[in-house]
Amino acid sequence: MSRVPEDIKTVPRHIAIIMDGNGRWARERGLPRTEGHRRGADSVRRVVKACGELGVEFLTLYAFSSENWKRPKREVDALMRLLQQFLKSRTPEMMEQNVRLQAIGRLHDLPEACQAELHRSISKTAQNTGLTLILALSYGGREEIIDGVKSLLESVEKGHLDKAMIDGEVFSKHLYTRYYPDPDLLIRTSGELRLSNFLLWQMSYTEFYVTEKLWPDFEREALLEALRAFNARSRRFGGV
Ligand code: FPP
Repeated sequence: MSRVPEDIKTVPRHIAIIMDGNGRWARERGLPRTEGHRRGADSVRRVVKACGELGVEFLTLYAFSSENWKRPKREVDALMRLLQQFLKSRTPEMMEQNVRLQAIGRLHDLPEACQAELHRSISKTAQNTGLTLILALSYGGREEIIDGVKSLLESVEKGHLDKAMIDGEVFSKHLYTRYYPDPDLLIRTSGELRLSNFLLWQMSYTEFYVTEKLWPDFEREALLEALRAFNARSRRFGGV
């Protein structure tokens, strides 16, 4: 089902989102940060549904960065529990909405129970043909590039790849994102103007959209605003 408002002519094929501001949302209300994350998970649900309805093909969400491990253990544990709970309770909804779940990052760093839940949801939804939802977990762009370089070297050492053949396209095939197109649009909530180690290689020509809205307040209308801004851009990919 595609429910695209008439003034949105082009729906980005791939949207990436830096979901920022859960902590501030909670602080403004005198609530614990974990409550902000819980409300952030509700936003994830809404945005996944809206993207599916709009006909977006890929949605990558920055759910837990390599740097997020430095947060207090209590907050990290709460985020891992929330992720596990989300996967367990929302997989039936993903099935109903024809959403295929994928994940990128150093997934082996996640607690075992989380990894198990993640792999369960990924295999359960593997045959779905609608939106591909990609969760970036224990993800860092620099780490991904380092892992990509190691994988390239291994291919060269094993004789599967000739060094002279290495170019951007070949390198892309050694990244976690090898099966997905580059993002067309990056949305960052809560007003910060940085990339924060997210999809560094893949965002060379991605359009950036920053909103002051905090992630728990981000809903369908805010997403449509981002799509309208995207439609007003002229993408030249370095050409004229
Ligand atoms: C940034 O807010 C958000 C995160 C570090 C985690 C994102 C997690 C969620 C949206 C919830 C769980 C996700 C899923 C997929 C179920 P912040 O804590 O940095 O906010 P602040 O900058 O205001 O402190």
